[in-house]
Amino acid sequence: MTGFRLDGRTALVTGASRGIGRAVAQTYAAAGADVALLARDETMLGYVAAEVEAHGRRAVVLPCDVTDAEAVHGAVAAALEAFGHLDVLVNNAGGNTFSMPLATMRFSGWEKTLRLNLDSIVHTTQAVLPHMLERRSGAIVNVASVAGLRGAPLMSHYGAAKAAVISLTQSVAVETAWAGVRVNALVPGWIETDLTGFLRDNEDAEKGTLSRVPMARWGRVEEIAEPALFLASDAASFMTGQVLVVDGGLSAMP
Ligand SMILES: NC(=O)c1ccc[n+]([C@@H]2O[C@H](COP(=O)([O-])OP(=O)(O)OC[C@H]3O[C@@H](n4cnc5c(N)ncnc54)[C@H](OP(=O)(O)O)[C@@H]3O)[C@@H](O)[C@H]2O)c1
Repeated sequence: MTGFRLDGRTALVTGASRGIGRAVAQTYAAAGADVALLARDETMLGYVAAEVEAHGRRAVVLPCDVTDAEAVHGAVAAALEAFGHLDVLVNNAGGNTFSMPLATMRFSGWEKTLRLNLDSIVHTTQAVLPHMLERRSGAIVNVASVAGLRGAPLMSHYGAAKAAVISLTQSVAVETAWAGVRVNALVPGWIETDLTGFLRDNEDAEKGTLSRVPMARWGRVEEIAEPALFLASDAASFMTGQVLVVDGGLSAMP
């Protein structure tokens, strides 16, 4: 058997307007899924919707800020209305906009990062789970980061949020396994997206970053999207509460 397909399935991907989320949406559509696309930039979502539709699949555009719980519940309701059901939720929206030691960090910056990377996943998951539990089926993929696997100096806010995403993944996986709902974390290393552009803008920063990656290069968004397909598909049907690290060997370094 090869279960690496999503034919007839429906998925909601957050942060689908660019970067990893866009690649996940494209990959899921190529694997046979209809895809609901959630992010703030409606214009970009329109382009991604066209890419999904080019695969002969349906797309729903959901302009929404993931930190707004009410808006997220509305967006999930709109996706359910359009598709009738949701098989897959990919919690990908997230990121980090600043680096500094905790000693001088304003609490507002800490809170903003936690709201974007952690609270957002609570909102989407709470919106989708009643539906998945009732259907006794579903797969949730939470995008964390290698920054959540160990200390993340100057990014304690982001690292703590992503570590919490991993813990949340494990807790919810155990809470929902009885209903056939699977919840796994996908942990990217350094991937070439807008989020990491500032490192490529500075030769020394890029060199320093890649010097710690055994494969000595940036990951491509497709290299995260394919494992995200695995986790969502029946190929991972006996896998829940797990952490799949895709980082070119970074976390294997002593
Ligand atoms: N790139 C890496 O090296 C790397 C490494 C480890 C983990 N990750 C994680 O992978 C995920 C995707 O990162 P990426 O590299 O693809 O970043 P990216 O290129 O900056 O894309 C981020 C996506 O999240 C969306 N987003 C941001 N804030 C949002 C909000 N408040 N509401 C709704 N959507 C929002 C953005 O869309 P809009 O701006 O249109 O809202 C965009 O689609 C993030 O969770 C990130 O932490 C990335």
